[in-house]
Amino acid sequence: MPGQLCQTSVIVLIRRAMESLQTRPLQASRPAAALSGEISVPGDKSISHRALMFAALAVGETRITGLLEGEDVLRTAAAMAALGAEIRREGADWLVAGRGIGGLIAPSDVLDMGNSGTAARLLCGILASHDVYAVMTGDASLRKRPMRRVIAPLSACGARFTARPGGLLPLTIEGARDALPITYTLPVASAQVKSAILLAGLNARGVTEVTEPEPTRDHSENMLRHFGAAVSISQQGRGRVIRLAGQPELRAADVAVPGDPSSAAFPLVAALLVPGSRVTINAVGLNPLRTGLFETLREMGAELTIRNPRVQGGESIGDIVVEHTALAAVDVPPERAPSMIDEYPILAVACAVARGTSRLRGLGELRVKESDRLAATTAMLRAGGVAVAVEGDDLIIDGMAAPPGGGLVETHMDHRLAMSALVFGQMTKAAMRIDDSTFIDTSFPGFVACMRRLGAAISGV
Ligand code: S3P
Repeated sequence: MPGQLCQTSVIVLIRRAMESLQTRPLQASRPAAALSGEISVPGDKSISHRALMFAALAVGETRITGLLEGEDVLRTAAAMAALGAEIRREGADWLVAGRGIGGLIAPSDVLDMGNSGTAARLLCGILASHDVYAVMTGDASLRKRPMRRVIAPLSACGARFTARPGGLLPLTIEGARDALPITYTLPVASAQVKSAILLAGLNARGVTEVTEPEPTRDHSENMLRHFGAAVSISQQGRGRVIRLAGQPELRAADVAVPGDPSSAAFPLVAALLVPGSRVTINAVGLNPLRTGLFETLREMGAELTIRNPRVQGGESIGDIVVEHTALAAVDVPPERAPSMIDEYPILAVACAVARGTSRLRGLGELRVKESDRLAATTAMLRAGGVAVAVEGDDLIIDGMAAPPGGGLVETHMDHRLAMSALVFGQMTKAAMRIDDSTFIDTSFPGFVACMRRLGAAISGV
């Protein structure tokens, strides 16, 4: 039946996860021995959201393998089910029977996107060009994040949004009955904003055009083509112009989700930091618009080897072998930010133990992530005794061989802060504590078990 979830209900999964929502402090300390072993990390979060959304807009049944079963993505699954897609789990795979472009139904309840900015913003794009009324909200972190960046451009297609003052969730969306195509130049480098506009363009008559001054992750473009849409991309200076022909017939197309490079970053940096370590991380996505961290770590002297490079479902993947290396400080240019935007907290940890002073430039966008990551990363390093400063949008870190540690890190409902602090604690003289580890499940369920399997020292407090 449309709108209903068969078999393993996503709603049940989310409810179970919510029930267990209570603060879970943890502590991380130097492990007794080097980290070693072979692991894989959960599916890519960006690709998982998009796979569910595009499959729900396609005609036919899409099989998704390797979907990230983290809270953020389960929110997207629940939302697409509320809009009429049939979604079920079969073994480890997820099956989505789509309703076709224009075929989504109005949700009968509020869409709660939890902690996920990607889910909220991309869904605004879908709803903008569907003739439905919807109300959207999120958790305390998401309700602080700017939605004007999608509301402004999406309004041009004829959709009406009413948000809380400041352009914040909760918001209502009245989708356009006959959506106009949008032409828009991104004022900030944001794959979420680009994707929201392209998703709206799917149900608009005519050509939707997005210009991005800096290239951002292109999973939406790749997946649109994979599902049968006509997308053209041309270079413009350092950036790109993306054109999408509206109202294509999207056809169901199976998706194999690669391991998330943003999740791989945590065990990878841990292995770099702990002397004697050697770790292999299998089947990690290596889309060049996501690998800025690997490039930066190599500049710092890291030994990273890619084995078995291959292409899976239109995305490059490979196995990464990483060995402990003494790192040197780095100066990261601002134009690299889009390709490693989620990796700055863990890069900051690497810089904290690198020889010399690092400067990470152009990090303004970090202020509007799951937390103010510029402030929270600074506070994390200071809690471990590392000298760090913010100058404008730059983060400056004085590396030291053995930071004293011993501090408590406030994670502000931010999964990447929590994981970064737990990796940091593998190198500090005294243990590092975090106030709450629950949000790790939004992107990396099983993180602590995975790190412990490699030999990391993480325990309850
Ligand atoms: C994402 C884009 C990035 C990133 C987020 C995922 C996406 O956000 O930080 O975790 O899937 O499109 P911005 O578009 O705000 O840079």
